[in-house]
Amino acid sequence: VGPGVLAGLGERIGERSAFVVVDARVEHLHAERLKGALGDRPRRTVTAGEDAKTPAELEGALEALGDAGLGRDGVVVAIGGGAACDLAGLTAALFARGIDWIACPTTLLAMIDASVGGKTAINLRAGKNLAGAFHAPRAVLADVEFLATLPPDEMRSGLGELAKAALVEGGELLAELSAAAPGLAGGERAPGVDLIARAVAAKARVVAADEREAGPREALNLGHTFAHAIEHVLGYGRVPHGVAVAAGIGLALDAAERLEPAPPARFPQRARALLAALGLPAGLDALARELGLDRESALAPDALIRAMRGDKKRRAGTTRLVLPLGPGEVRRGVEVDEPFLRAVLAGR
Ligand SMILES: NC(=O)c1ccc[n+]([C@@H]2O[C@H](COP(=O)([O-])OP(=O)(O)OC[C@H]3O[C@@H](n4cnc5c(N)ncnc54)[C@H](O)[C@@H]3O)[C@@H](O)[C@H]2O)c1
Ligand SMILES: [Zn+2]
Repeated sequence: VGPGVLAGLGERIGERSAFVVVDARVEHLHAERLKGALGDRPRRTVTAGEDAKTPAELEGALEALGDAGLGRDGVVVAIGGGAACDLAGLTAALFARGIDWIACPTTLLAMIDASVGGKTAINLRAGKNLAGAFHAPRAVLADVEFLATLPPDEMRSGLGELAKAALVEGGELLAELSAAAPGLAGGERAPGVDLIARAVAAKARVVAADEREAGPREALNLGHTFAHAIEHVLGYGRVPHGVAVAAGIGLALDAAERLEPAPPARFPQRARALLAALGLPAGLDALARELGLDRESALAPDALIRAMRGDKKRRAGTTRLVLPLGPGEVRRGVEVDEPFLRAVLAGR
């Protein structure tokens, strides 16, 4: 993680043949930087953002690797946000039954979250991330100079996941983010290298202990059951993912307070204050205000609960939540029923 680390790409690739998969917007905005780091290596430009994660783009990328004559010792280089990295990683997982890849994330969210942990996927008609593989990149080069062109909304999306990481990790990451928060609100400025590197290290530790999400890794889903329902109800793309996660963390804090009457040292208040200081909505009221929507109709509890019924991680009749109990302290796999959820979602 650092400014200019992309320049080290050639050294990482070494003598092997490489094929570059790059997000169209990033390619356009950073043409010079890419030329310097990639030289004339073959590349495929994929549709900017989430639309890269389709079966058609996957097929196109696989065929392009084949046409370029890449062998089993070839390496795929992904350059872009989480979407381009997810597509490129899955392409590498499938080509010749799995070849190496290197992730060069260009969004804050991809640096601290998507490029760490080895999950890759595309979307299917039936749902997001439904076709994928666990295939960790050989290396991740997070060149923070890319962040200079990131739109504020995308930055805020990354800040939502950064807040999640900090609450799950506690300790210095939480302290450092809390101190930096006022300067980051609005998403005009990128967090410092140190903060980004700490968040990467925190996620890497959790994932290393539980690569296949059998247990501890579930903690990283904090706020996500609610966030996915919010994104579903509002329509995907209407609100940046990490902003929905912030609202979801707010709801998870509400749920925790109801189930755990004596949280340590005003933790829920401090966690909500952190989200607010980052300029993120700490619940449904704030989210509705930000979007100029009427909460009762646009984010009705019934609609959100219906959306949760479709959640992959759900078990019969109940919903599993990750509850934030204190700095660096969560309880995973807490099963709650619909009346409870309705009360949380209605704020009653
Ligand atoms: N594999 C994982 O573990 C994991 C984890 C979290 C998220 N994800 C996936 O990541 C995706 C979201 O990633 P994201 O938030 O990075 O979004 P994204 O990749 O869709 O990028 C967001 C937008 O920013 C643009 N962009 C990227 N870098 C830029 C830059 N430096 N300057 C200007 N514009 C830039 C892109 O063109 C796109 O329009 C989702 O598909 C999600 O499922 C995967
Ligand atoms: Zn997320």
